[in-house]
Amino acid sequence: MVNIILLFCIWHLVGVFGYTDAVKSVSVMEGESVTLNPELTDIQRDKEILWRFGDSRIARVIRNIPRYDVDERFRDRLKLDQTGSLTISDIRTTDSGLYQLRTIIGNKEFTKRFNVTVDGEHNYM
Ligand SMILES: *[C@@H]1O[C@H](CO)[C@@H](O)[C@H](O)[C@H]1NC(C)=O
Repeated sequence: MVNIILLFCIWHLVGVFGYTDAVKSVSVMEGESVTLNPELTDIQRDKEILWRFGDSRIARVIRNIPRYDVDERFRDRLKLDQTGSLTISDIRTTDSGLYQLRTIIGNKEFTKRFNVTVDGEHNYM
């Protein structure tokens, strides 16, 4: 019983502050694909799911339809599905950085961040 009450308290706190996960680190080899899966279990169909890379919006799901922003860096290399999973193919060292998903769940903003590190055989700098 005490556990249930505690759980409600935690839910309440989460509700107040919104949902922000810790940054998840993802390591990928150059040339490979990576899927950033936010593991959203409670997707609201009418809500937008938005992905950013750094400061740029790169893709979003609107009413279940994936849309991609025009960004030469990711030309033809992004695949977004209805659940918000983002697949980046043919990874390049320049794809390293912070990817952030934002959506609304239960009227609260939900944020999930992935820190992608690309390991190349060579480091072009
Ligand atoms: C992402 O990972 C790199 C390499 O491990 C690290 O230097 C950087 O601080 C990380 N960035 C964030 C926002 O966690």
